[in-house]
Amino acid sequence: LVFRRPGWQAICIFASPRYDFETMKHRVLVIDDDPTFCRMLEGFLQRKGMEAEGVFSGEEALNLLQKKTFDIILSDYRLPEKDGIDLLDEIREEHGSIPFIIMTSYADIRIAVRAMKLGAFDYVTKPVNPDEILLSINNAITQQQTANSQSADVPGKKPTMVVKPNPGNGYLEGQGPMSKILQEHIELVAPTNISVLIQGESGSGKEYVAKRIHDLSKRSSRPFISIDCGALSKELAASELFGHIKGSFTGAITDKTGQFEAAKGGTLFLDEIGNLSYEIQIQLLRALQERKVRKIGSNHDVEVDVRILTATNEDLIEAVKRGDFREDLYHRLNEFRILVPSLKQRPEDIAAFCKAFLQLANQELDKHLQSFDEEVLDIFSKYTWPGNLRELRNVIRRAALLSKGEVVLKEALPAEIIEESYFSANKVGDVSSATDLKSVAGKTERDLIIQTLTKVNFNKSKAAQLLKIDRKTLYNKMKQYNIE
Ligand SMILES: Nc1ncnc2c1ncn2[C@@H]1O[C@H](COP(=O)(O)OP(=O)(O)OP(=O)(O)O)[C@@H](O)[C@H]1O
Ligand SMILES: [Mg+2]
Repeated sequence: LVFRRPGWQAICIFASPRYDFETMKHRVLVIDDDPTFCRMLEGFLQRKGMEAEGVFSGEEALNLLQKKTFDIILSDYRLPEKDGIDLLDEIREEHGSIPFIIMTSYADIRIAVRAMKLGAFDYVTKPVNPDEILLSINNAITQQQTANSQSADVPGKKPTMVVKPNPGNGYLEGQGPMSKILQEHIELVAPTNISVLIQGESGSGKEYVAKRIHDLSKRSSRPFISIDCGALSKELAASELFGHIKGSFTGAITDKTGQFEAAKGGTLFLDEIGNLSYEIQIQLLRALQERKVRKIGSNHDVEVDVRILTATNEDLIEAVKRGDFREDLYHRLNEFRILVPSLKQRPEDIAAFCKAFLQLANQELDKHLQSFDEEVLDIFSKYTWPGNLRELRNVIRRAALLSKGEVVLKEALPAEIIEESYFSANKVGDVSSATDLKSVAGKTERDLIIQTLTKVNFNKSKAAQLLKIDRKTLYNKMKQYNIE
Protein backbone atom coordinates (compact mmCIF):
# COMPACT_ATOMS: atom_id res chain seq x y z
CA LEU A 1 0.00 0.00 0.00
CA VAL A 2 1.34 3.42 -0.87
CA PHE A 3 0.42 6.85 0.48
CA ARG A 4 0.96 9.44 -2.15
CA ARG A 5 0.40 13.13 -2.01
CA PRO A 6 1.50 15.95 -4.35
CA GLY A 7 5.04 16.92 -3.49
CA TRP A 8 5.44 14.10 -1.03
CA GLN A 9 7.58 11.12 -1.43
CA ALA A 10 5.63 7.90 -1.72
CA ILE A 11 5.83 5.74 1.32
CA CYS A 12 5.35 2.02 1.41
CA ILE A 13 3.47 0.36 4.18
CA PHE A 14 5.01 -2.86 5.28
CA ALA A 15 2.38 -5.39 6.13
CA SER A 16 3.45 -6.26 9.63
CA PRO A 17 1.63 -8.83 11.74
CA ARG A 18 2.61 -6.91 14.89
CA TYR A 19 0.11 -4.20 14.18
CA ASP A 20 -3.00 -6.24 13.87
CA PHE A 21 -5.65 -4.14 15.52
CA GLU A 22 -8.50 -6.47 14.54
CA THR A 23 -9.53 -7.25 18.05
CA MET A 24 -8.95 -3.88 19.71
CA LYS A 25 -11.35 -1.41 18.10
CA HIS A 26 -9.62 1.72 19.28
CA ARG A 27 -11.55 4.90 18.64
CA VAL A 28 -9.31 7.34 16.80
CA LEU A 29 -10.08 10.93 15.89
CA VAL A 30 -8.10 12.20 12.91
CA ILE A 31 -7.86 15.97 12.32
CA ASP A 32 -6.34 17.26 9.09
CA ASP A 33 -7.50 20.09 6.87
CA ASP A 34 -6.36 18.25 3.75
CA PRO A 35 -9.55 16.27 2.98
CA THR A 36 -7.86 13.69 0.74
CA PHE A 37 -5.19 12.92 3.29
CA CYS A 38 -7.68 12.91 6.15
CA ARG A 39 -9.97 10.44 4.40
CA MET A 40 -7.03 8.30 3.38
CA LEU A 41 -5.73 8.04 6.94
CA GLU A 42 -9.24 7.43 8.25
CA GLY A 43 -9.73 4.59 5.74
CA PHE A 44 -6.33 3.12 6.50
CA LEU A 45 -6.97 3.03 10.25
CA GLN A 46 -10.41 1.51 9.68
CA ARG A 47 -8.85 -1.20 7.59
CA LYS A 48 -6.51 -1.84 10.50
CA GLY A 49 -9.56 -2.57 12.66
CA MET A 50 -9.96 0.79 14.38
CA GLU A 51 -12.99 3.01 14.64
CA ALA A 52 -11.49 6.03 12.93
CA GLU A 53 -13.28 9.28 12.23
CA GLY A 54 -11.77 12.21 10.34
CA VAL A 55 -12.59 15.93 10.59
CA PHE A 56 -11.02 18.90 8.82
CA SER A 57 -10.72 21.52 11.59
CA GLY A 58 -10.20 22.03 15.30
CA GLU A 59 -13.75 23.37 15.69
CA GLU A 60 -15.22 20.25 14.15
CA ALA A 61 -13.05 18.13 16.42
CA LEU A 62 -14.22 19.99 19.54
CA ASN A 63 -17.85 19.62 18.48
CA LEU A 64 -17.43 15.91 17.89
CA LEU A 65 -15.71 15.44 21.24
CA GLN A 66 -18.81 16.84 22.96
CA LYS A 67 -20.80 13.95 21.55
CA LYS A 68 -18.35 11.08 21.35
CA THR A 69 -15.46 9.62 23.28
CA PHE A 70 -12.16 8.81 21.60
CA ASP A 71 -9.19 6.82 22.85
CA ILE A 72 -6.67 8.75 20.85
CA ILE A 73 -6.37 11.91 18.77
CA LEU A 74 -4.17 12.30 15.73
CA SER A 75 -3.93 15.92 14.68
CA ASP A 76 -2.10 17.90 12.06
CA TYR A 77 -0.23 20.91 13.45
CA ARG A 78 -1.07 23.32 10.65
CA LEU A 79 -4.82 23.70 10.81
CA PRO A 80 -6.89 26.71 9.79
CA GLU A 81 -7.79 29.06 12.70
CA LYS A 82 -6.80 26.89 15.67
CA ASP A 83 -3.44 25.17 15.26
CA GLY A 84 -2.65 21.72 16.68
CA ILE A 85 -1.12 23.11 19.86
CA ASP A 86 -4.07 25.39 20.69
CA LEU A 87 -6.31 22.45 20.05
CA LEU A 88 -4.28 20.18 22.34
CA ASP A 89 -4.55 22.81 25.06
CA GLU A 90 -8.30 23.15 24.70
CA ILE A 91 -8.92 19.42 24.57
CA ARG A 92 -6.83 18.86 27.70
CA GLU A 93 -8.78 21.57 29.51
CA GLU A 94 -12.17 20.11 28.61
CA HIS A 95 -11.64 16.41 28.18
CA GLY A 96 -8.62 15.42 30.29
CA SER A 97 -5.53 14.04 28.65
CA ILE A 98 -6.64 11.82 25.81
CA PRO A 99 -3.38 10.71 24.17
CA PHE A 100 -2.67 13.28 21.46
CA ILE A 101 -0.28 12.64 18.59
CA ILE A 102 0.73 15.64 16.56
CA MET A 103 1.68 15.42 12.89
CA THR A 104 4.16 18.02 11.68
CA SER A 105 6.53 18.48 8.82
CA TYR A 106 10.14 18.06 9.83
CA ALA A 107 10.64 21.78 9.30
CA ASP A 108 8.34 22.23 12.31
CA ILE A 109 10.28 19.90 14.58
CA ARG A 110 10.64 22.62 17.20
CA ILE A 111 6.87 22.82 17.29
CA ALA A 112 6.69 19.10 17.84
CA VAL A 113 9.06 19.56 20.77
CA ARG A 114 6.84 22.29 22.18
CA ALA A 115 3.79 20.08 21.73
CA MET A 116 5.47 17.33 23.77
CA LYS A 117 6.23 19.85 26.51
CA LEU A 118 2.57 20.75 26.55
CA GLY A 119 1.54 17.16 26.96
CA ALA A 120 1.32 15.66 23.48
CA PHE A 121 2.07 11.96 23.71
CA ASP A 122 4.19 11.79 20.59
CA TYR A 123 4.83 13.39 17.24
CA VAL A 124 5.09 11.89 13.80
CA THR A 125 6.62 13.73 10.94
CA LYS A 126 5.16 14.27 7.53
CA PRO A 127 5.31 12.72 5.01
CA VAL A 128 3.48 10.33 7.25
CA ASN A 129 4.66 6.79 7.43
CA PRO A 130 1.60 4.72 8.31
CA ASP A 131 3.57 2.04 10.15
CA GLU A 132 5.03 4.75 12.34
CA ILE A 133 1.54 6.00 13.09
CA LEU A 134 0.36 2.53 14.03
CA LEU A 135 3.34 2.08 16.30
CA SER A 136 2.73 5.40 17.98
CA ILE A 137 -0.99 4.68 18.44
CA ASN A 138 -0.18 1.29 19.89
CA ASN A 139 2.34 2.78 22.34
CA ALA A 140 -0.07 5.51 23.39
CA ILE A 141 -2.89 3.11 24.07
CA THR A 142 -0.72 0.67 26.00
CA GLN A 143 0.64 3.50 28.15
CA GLN A 144 -2.82 4.91 28.76
CA GLN A 145 -4.10 1.51 29.86
CA THR A 146 -1.20 1.02 32.26
CA ALA A 147 -1.62 4.54 33.58
CA ASN A 148 -5.35 4.15 34.12
CA SER A 149 -4.83 0.94 36.04
CA GLN A 150 -2.40 2.76 38.34
CA SER A 151 -4.43 5.90 38.84
CA ALA A 152 -7.96 5.69 40.14
CA ASP A 153 -9.61 8.96 39.23
CA VAL A 154 -12.56 10.45 40.95
CA PRO A 155 -15.65 8.79 39.47
CA GLY A 156 -17.50 10.94 37.00
CA LYS A 157 -14.38 12.91 36.08
CA LYS A 158 -12.67 12.68 32.74
CA PRO A 159 -9.71 10.28 32.74
CA THR A 160 -6.30 11.88 33.01
CA MET A 161 -2.87 10.48 32.45
CA VAL A 162 -1.58 11.82 35.73
CA VAL A 163 0.37 8.78 36.76
CA LYS A 164 2.62 7.72 33.96
CA PRO A 165 3.75 4.17 33.42
CA ASN A 166 7.31 3.31 34.33
CA PRO A 167 9.91 4.63 31.96
CA GLY A 168 13.58 3.84 31.96
CA ASN A 169 13.86 0.50 30.21
CA GLY A 170 17.20 0.24 28.49
CA TYR A 171 18.83 3.24 30.15
CA LEU A 172 21.88 4.39 28.18
CA GLU A 173 24.72 6.04 30.06
CA GLY A 174 26.95 7.44 27.34
CA GLN A 175 30.73 7.69 27.65
CA GLY A 176 31.52 11.30 26.73
CA PRO A 177 32.72 13.82 29.36
CA MET A 178 29.25 15.35 29.91
CA SER A 179 27.72 11.90 30.30
CA LYS A 180 30.42 10.92 32.77
CA ILE A 181 29.63 13.96 34.93
CA LEU A 182 25.93 13.12 34.73
CA GLN A 183 26.64 9.53 35.72
CA GLU A 184 28.84 10.62 38.64
CA HIS A 185 26.09 12.88 39.92
CA ILE A 186 23.49 10.16 39.60
CA GLU A 187 25.64 7.66 41.46
CA LEU A 188 26.51 10.20 44.12
CA VAL A 189 22.97 11.14 44.93
CA ALA A 190 21.12 7.86 44.25
CA PRO A 191 21.85 6.07 47.56
CA THR A 192 20.75 9.07 49.64
CA ASN A 193 17.29 10.40 50.45
CA ILE A 194 18.12 13.84 49.11
CA SER A 195 15.48 15.58 46.97
CA VAL A 196 16.80 16.09 43.45
CA LEU A 197 15.68 18.66 40.94
CA ILE A 198 16.37 17.44 37.42
CA GLN A 199 16.65 20.06 34.72
CA GLY A 200 17.27 19.76 31.01
CA GLU A 201 15.91 20.44 27.57
CA SER A 202 12.85 18.67 26.27
CA GLY A 203 13.51 15.03 25.41
CA SER A 204 16.98 15.04 27.00
CA GLY A 205 16.03 12.21 29.36
CA LYS A 206 14.96 13.83 32.66
CA GLU A 207 12.46 11.12 33.41
CA TYR A 208 14.96 8.44 32.48
CA VAL A 209 17.44 10.00 34.89
CA ALA A 210 14.82 10.03 37.65
CA LYS A 211 14.10 6.35 37.13
CA ARG A 212 17.82 5.63 37.07
CA ILE A 213 18.28 7.35 40.44
CA HIS A 214 15.47 5.22 41.82
CA ASP A 215 16.90 2.02 40.33
CA LEU A 216 20.30 2.69 41.87
CA SER A 217 18.83 3.57 45.27
CA LYS A 218 17.98 1.38 48.25
CA ARG A 219 14.36 2.00 47.36
CA SER A 220 14.62 0.18 44.03
CA SER A 221 12.42 -2.73 45.11
CA ARG A 222 9.69 -0.29 46.18
CA PRO A 223 7.42 1.68 43.79
CA PHE A 224 8.57 4.42 41.45
CA ILE A 225 5.57 6.60 40.73
CA SER A 226 5.76 9.26 38.09
CA ILE A 227 3.21 12.07 38.18
CA ASP A 228 2.69 14.60 35.44
CA CYS A 229 1.94 17.80 37.37
CA GLY A 230 0.96 19.44 34.08
CA ALA A 231 -1.98 17.05 33.82
CA LEU A 232 -3.11 17.57 37.45
CA SER A 233 -6.21 19.71 37.43
CA LYS A 234 -6.50 22.20 40.30
CA GLU A 235 -9.48 20.39 41.79
CA LEU A 236 -7.94 16.93 41.57
CA ALA A 237 -4.33 17.66 42.50
CA ALA A 238 -4.73 17.35 46.27
CA SER A 239 -6.81 14.21 45.96
CA GLU A 240 -4.34 12.62 43.54
CA LEU A 241 -1.32 13.42 45.70
CA PHE A 242 -2.69 13.03 49.20
CA GLY A 243 -5.90 10.99 48.75
CA HIS A 244 -9.40 11.61 50.02
CA ILE A 245 -12.01 9.91 52.15
CA LYS A 246 -15.43 8.89 50.98
CA GLY A 247 -17.93 11.75 50.98
CA SER A 248 -15.35 14.52 51.44
CA PHE A 249 -16.55 16.23 48.25
CA THR A 250 -19.10 15.63 45.53
CA GLY A 251 -17.99 12.66 43.51
CA ALA A 252 -15.77 11.18 46.22
CA ILE A 253 -17.77 7.98 46.46
CA THR A 254 -14.97 5.79 47.74
CA ASP A 255 -11.82 6.34 49.77
CA LYS A 256 -8.78 7.08 47.62
CA THR A 257 -5.16 6.48 48.47
CA GLY A 258 -2.97 9.36 47.35
CA GLN A 259 0.24 8.80 45.42
CA PHE A 260 2.33 9.82 48.44
CA GLU A 261 0.97 6.80 50.27
CA ALA A 262 1.04 4.57 47.19
CA ALA A 263 4.74 5.27 46.73
CA LYS A 264 5.44 4.13 50.32
CA GLY A 265 9.10 3.27 50.77
CA GLY A 266 9.78 4.24 47.17
CA THR A 267 10.19 7.29 44.98
CA LEU A 268 7.71 9.88 43.80
CA PHE A 269 8.73 11.66 40.63
CA LEU A 270 6.91 14.95 40.12
CA ASP A 271 7.32 15.97 36.51
CA GLU A 272 6.74 19.54 35.26
CA ILE A 273 6.76 20.71 38.86
CA GLY A 274 6.42 24.35 37.79
CA ASN A 275 2.77 23.68 37.02
CA LEU A 276 1.62 23.05 40.59
CA SER A 277 -0.88 25.55 41.93
CA TYR A 278 0.07 27.70 44.89
CA GLU A 279 -2.18 25.85 47.36
CA ILE A 280 -0.73 22.51 46.38
CA GLN A 281 2.75 23.94 46.74
CA ILE A 282 1.94 24.73 50.37
CA GLN A 283 0.62 21.24 51.02
CA LEU A 284 3.58 19.67 49.30
CA LEU A 285 5.98 21.72 51.41
CA ARG A 286 4.24 20.53 54.56
CA ALA A 287 4.41 16.91 53.40
CA LEU A 288 8.14 17.27 52.80
CA GLN A 289 8.89 19.07 56.06
CA GLU A 290 6.79 16.95 58.37
CA ARG A 291 6.86 13.72 56.38
CA LYS A 292 3.12 13.47 56.92
CA VAL A 293 0.11 13.88 54.66
CA ARG A 294 -3.54 14.34 55.38
CA LYS A 295 -6.24 12.98 53.11
CA ILE A 296 -8.96 15.41 52.05
CA GLY A 297 -11.77 15.16 54.58
CA SER A 298 -9.68 13.36 57.21
CA ASN A 299 -8.63 14.51 60.69
CA HIS A 300 -5.61 12.26 60.84
CA ASP A 301 -2.14 12.61 59.47
CA VAL A 302 -0.51 9.61 57.85
CA GLU A 303 3.25 9.18 58.03
CA VAL A 304 4.87 8.91 54.62
CA ASP A 305 8.28 7.61 53.66
CA VAL A 306 8.88 8.83 50.14
CA ARG A 307 11.84 10.18 48.27
CA ILE A 308 10.97 13.11 46.03
CA LEU A 309 12.50 13.70 42.63
CA THR A 310 11.26 16.55 40.45
CA ALA A 311 11.85 17.70 36.92
CA THR A 312 11.22 20.82 34.94
CA ASN A 313 12.39 22.48 31.78
CA GLU A 314 11.20 25.80 33.11
CA ASP A 315 13.46 28.30 34.83
CA LEU A 316 12.16 27.85 38.39
CA ILE A 317 14.24 30.73 39.72
CA GLU A 318 12.39 33.00 37.32
CA ALA A 319 9.10 31.48 38.52
CA VAL A 320 10.17 32.22 42.11
CA LYS A 321 10.99 35.82 41.15
CA ARG A 322 7.60 36.21 39.47
CA GLY A 323 5.96 34.88 42.63
CA ASP A 324 4.54 31.81 40.88
CA PHE A 325 6.67 29.32 42.76
CA ARG A 326 7.37 29.31 46.50
CA GLU A 327 10.99 29.93 47.31
CA ASP A 328 10.94 27.69 50.41
CA LEU A 329 9.58 24.81 48.33
CA TYR A 330 12.13 25.47 45.63
CA HIS A 331 14.98 25.06 48.14
CA ARG A 332 13.41 21.90 49.56
CA LEU A 333 13.16 20.31 46.14
CA ASN A 334 16.53 21.54 45.02
CA GLU A 335 18.71 19.91 47.69
CA PHE A 336 20.72 18.62 44.76
CA ARG A 337 20.42 19.63 41.14
CA ILE A 338 21.16 17.52 38.12
CA LEU A 339 21.50 19.12 34.73
CA VAL A 340 20.86 16.62 31.98
CA PRO A 341 23.02 17.65 29.02
CA SER A 342 21.42 18.21 25.65
CA LEU A 343 22.34 15.80 22.88
CA LYS A 344 24.33 18.58 21.23
CA GLN A 345 26.51 18.64 24.34
CA ARG A 346 27.18 14.90 24.11
CA PRO A 347 28.56 14.47 20.57
CA GLU A 348 30.84 11.61 21.67
CA ASP A 349 27.78 9.55 22.60
CA ILE A 350 25.83 9.86 19.39
CA ALA A 351 27.27 6.76 17.68
CA ALA A 352 26.60 4.53 20.69
CA PHE A 353 23.09 5.92 21.19
CA CYS A 354 22.40 5.36 17.48
CA LYS A 355 23.44 1.74 17.75
CA ALA A 356 21.23 1.13 20.77
CA PHE A 357 18.23 2.89 19.22
CA LEU A 358 18.71 0.88 16.03
CA GLN A 359 18.51 -2.34 18.02
CA LEU A 360 15.38 -1.05 19.68
CA ALA A 361 13.85 -0.17 16.30
CA ASN A 362 14.75 -3.63 14.99
CA GLN A 363 12.86 -5.20 17.88
CA GLU A 364 9.87 -2.89 17.57
CA LEU A 365 9.57 -3.25 13.82
CA ASP A 366 10.83 -6.76 13.29
CA LYS A 367 13.73 -5.51 11.16
CA HIS A 368 17.34 -6.61 10.83
CA LEU A 369 19.34 -3.45 10.26
CA GLN A 370 22.99 -3.75 11.17
CA SER A 371 24.59 -0.34 10.93
CA PHE A 372 24.60 3.25 9.71
CA ASP A 373 26.33 4.59 6.66
CA GLU A 374 29.29 6.84 7.61
CA GLU A 375 27.54 9.76 5.93
CA VAL A 376 24.51 9.30 8.20
CA LEU A 377 26.64 9.41 11.33
CA ASP A 378 28.37 12.47 9.99
CA ILE A 379 25.02 14.22 9.44
CA PHE A 380 23.89 13.22 12.92
CA SER A 381 27.02 14.68 14.46
CA LYS A 382 26.41 18.06 12.81
CA TYR A 383 22.69 18.36 13.40
CA THR A 384 21.46 20.39 16.40
CA TRP A 385 18.86 17.93 17.81
CA PRO A 386 16.34 20.32 19.37
CA GLY A 387 14.27 17.31 20.50
CA ASN A 388 17.35 15.58 21.95
CA LEU A 389 17.32 11.83 22.64
CA ARG A 390 13.64 11.52 21.91
CA GLU A 391 14.19 13.02 18.47
CA LEU A 392 17.19 10.78 17.80
CA ARG A 393 15.20 7.70 18.77
CA ASN A 394 12.29 8.76 16.54
CA VAL A 395 14.52 9.61 13.57
CA ILE A 396 16.17 6.21 13.83
CA ARG A 397 12.88 4.40 14.19
CA ARG A 398 11.61 6.15 11.09
CA ALA A 399 14.80 5.52 9.15
CA ALA A 400 14.58 1.85 10.10
CA LEU A 401 11.05 1.72 8.74
CA LEU A 402 12.18 3.17 5.43
CA SER A 403 15.39 1.18 5.05
CA LYS A 404 15.42 -1.87 2.85
CA GLY A 405 18.92 -3.35 3.21
CA GLU A 406 21.02 -3.83 6.31
CA VAL A 407 22.53 -0.36 6.39
CA VAL A 408 20.73 2.89 7.19
CA LEU A 409 21.45 5.29 4.35
CA LYS A 410 21.15 9.06 4.09
CA GLU A 411 18.03 8.64 1.93
CA ALA A 412 16.10 7.35 4.95
CA LEU A 413 16.61 10.63 6.86
CA PRO A 414 14.29 13.63 6.79
CA ALA A 415 15.59 16.21 4.30
CA GLU A 416 15.52 18.92 6.98
CA ILE A 417 18.10 17.10 9.12
CA ILE A 418 20.42 16.76 6.16
CA GLU A 419 20.05 20.42 5.22
CA GLU A 420 20.38 21.77 8.73
CA SER A 421 23.42 19.66 9.47
CA TYR A 422 25.03 20.93 6.28
CA PHE A 423 24.49 24.55 7.24
CA SER A 424 25.45 24.19 10.86
CA ALA A 425 28.69 22.55 9.71
CA ASN A 426 29.41 25.40 7.35
CA LYS A 427 28.47 28.15 9.74
CA VAL A 428 30.91 31.00 9.94
CA GLY A 429 32.73 31.10 13.25
CA ASP A 430 32.15 33.62 15.96
CA VAL A 431 32.31 37.13 14.55
CA SER A 432 33.98 38.38 17.71
CA SER A 433 37.04 36.25 16.90
CA ALA A 434 37.61 38.10 13.62
CA THR A 435 40.28 40.76 13.69
CA ASP A 436 39.68 42.84 10.56
CA LEU A 437 36.61 44.65 9.29
CA LYS A 438 36.69 42.97 5.93
CA SER A 439 36.44 39.46 7.34
CA VAL A 440 33.62 40.50 9.69
CA ALA A 441 31.71 41.89 6.73
CA GLY A 442 32.42 38.73 4.74
CA LYS A 443 31.18 36.49 7.55
CA THR A 444 28.00 38.49 7.99
CA GLU A 445 27.39 38.42 4.24
CA ARG A 446 27.92 34.66 4.05
CA ASP A 447 25.59 34.05 6.99
CA LEU A 448 22.88 36.18 5.44
CA ILE A 449 23.13 34.37 2.11
CA ILE A 450 22.83 30.99 3.82
CA GLN A 451 19.89 32.14 5.93
CA THR A 452 18.08 33.54 2.91
CA LEU A 453 18.69 30.45 0.81
CA THR A 454 17.31 28.26 3.56
CA LYS A 455 14.28 30.52 3.94
CA VAL A 456 13.34 30.24 0.25
CA ASN A 457 14.07 26.55 0.03
CA PHE A 458 17.19 27.08 -2.09
CA ASN A 459 15.39 28.94 -4.85
CA LYS A 460 18.27 31.11 -6.04
CA SER A 461 16.15 33.59 -7.99
CA LYS A 462 14.02 34.28 -4.94
CA ALA A 463 17.07 34.51 -2.73
CA ALA A 464 18.71 36.99 -5.09
CA GLN A 465 15.54 39.05 -5.12
CA LEU A 466 15.37 39.17 -1.32
CA LEU A 467 19.05 40.01 -1.06
CA LYS A 468 18.57 42.72 -3.68
CA ILE A 469 21.38 41.44 -5.90
CA ASP A 470 21.20 39.81 -9.33
CA ARG A 471 21.44 36.06 -9.76
CA LYS A 472 24.92 36.24 -11.20
CA THR A 473 26.25 38.12 -8.19
CA LEU A 474 24.61 35.57 -5.94
CA TYR A 475 26.31 32.71 -7.82
CA ASN A 476 29.65 34.50 -7.58
CA LYS A 477 29.24 35.09 -3.86
CA MET A 478 28.19 31.50 -3.28
CA LYS A 479 31.34 30.40 -5.03
CA GLN A 480 33.47 32.90 -3.13
CA TYR A 481 32.09 31.76 0.24
CA ASN A 482 32.13 28.11 -0.67
CA ILE A 483 28.37 27.65 -0.38
CA GLU A 484 27.28 24.65 -2.41
N1 LIG B 1 19.41 7.64 29.14
C1 LIG B 1 18.57 7.24 28.19
N2 LIG B 1 18.69 6.00 27.67
C2 LIG B 1 17.87 5.57 26.70
N3 LIG B 1 16.91 6.32 26.15
C3 LIG B 1 16.74 7.56 26.62
C4 LIG B 1 17.55 8.08 27.66
N4 LIG B 1 17.16 9.35 27.91
C5 LIG B 1 16.14 9.60 27.08
N5 LIG B 1 15.88 8.53 26.29
C6 LIG B 1 14.88 8.47 25.21
O1 LIG B 1 14.32 9.76 25.03
C7 LIG B 1 12.94 9.76 25.36
C8 LIG B 1 12.63 10.98 26.18
O2 LIG B 1 13.17 10.82 27.48
P1 LIG B 1 12.47 11.47 28.76
O3 LIG B 1 11.00 11.30 28.70
O4 LIG B 1 13.18 10.98 29.96
O5 LIG B 1 12.85 12.99 28.47
P2 LIG B 1 12.38 14.29 29.24
O6 LIG B 1 13.58 15.14 29.41
O7 LIG B 1 11.64 13.89 30.48
O8 LIG B 1 11.40 14.92 28.16
P3 LIG B 1 10.27 16.07 28.37
O9 LIG B 1 11.00 17.36 28.52
O10 LIG B 1 9.49 16.02 27.11
O11 LIG B 1 9.48 15.69 29.57
C9 LIG B 1 12.68 8.46 26.09
O12 LIG B 1 11.40 7.97 25.83
C10 LIG B 1 13.75 7.54 25.56
O13 LIG B 1 13.34 6.94 24.37
MG1 LIG C 1 9.65 14.32 30.96
